[in-house]
Amino acid sequence: MIKPKFITFEGIDGAGKSSHIEWFGESLRARGVRVLITREPGGTRLGEIWREQMLREQMTAESQTLLMFASRSEHLAQLIRPALMRSDWVLCDRFTDATYAYQGGGYGVATDTIDMLAQWLHSDCVPDMTILFDVPLDVSRQRLMRNGRSLDRFENEEKDFMQRVRDAYLGLAARDPQRYRLVDGSQTRDTIRNTLCDFLDELLPQ
Ligand code: TMP
Repeated sequence: MIKPKFITFEGIDGAGKSSHIEWFGESLRARGVRVLITREPGGTRLGEIWREQMLREQMTAESQTLLMFASRSEHLAQLIRPALMRSDWVLCDRFTDATYAYQGGGYGVATDTIDMLAQWLHSDCVPDMTILFDVPLDVSRQRLMRNGRSLDRFENEEKDFMQRVRDAYLGLAARDPQRYRLVDGSQTRDTIRNTLCDFLDELLPQ
């Protein structure tokens, strides 16, 4: 039997990852895999409460970092580890790479601090594959505006902030090509799905 996989979906706001995660999960299920789809920040009852506060309340970058990891700790304990233990695959909409990109790249929290928290909380649980959806800032902004809903604190940050987040993501991907798969999120839905099919084949060789 194939070892259950932990797969994360990352990208700046408006890169389109969330609209593809459900399809990816359904495609895995069609191939006979049991799948848990979840998200960060959130996933658990407490995590969803903290999510609202993190997205709406003013707080320091240090508080954001600690709350992201508090939420992640609950998520790992209640959902992610138990799912992997019962051999379900886990698809997670954002994980620790988002902390490196947003709190680290965006707000300047030191990489060593994030490394230390990640090592402390989940050295046993690192994603097997991370699919990074990358789009230029203008595309991201247009999509967020088209959406019509009110923007959260991160989406409301100035352009320079989102550029730093994007650069941080691309840096992470360049340093770990084994784990990362880069997808141009500005392509058509069908082209992106074709690319995702290649990843499915890689994960589940016939
Ligand atoms: P979402 O809109 O993709 O669900 O993500 C919510 C926001 O949370 C998004 O703007 C990125 C941010 N975020 C961080 O800043 N750090 C993190 O560690 C995570 C998981 C998300």
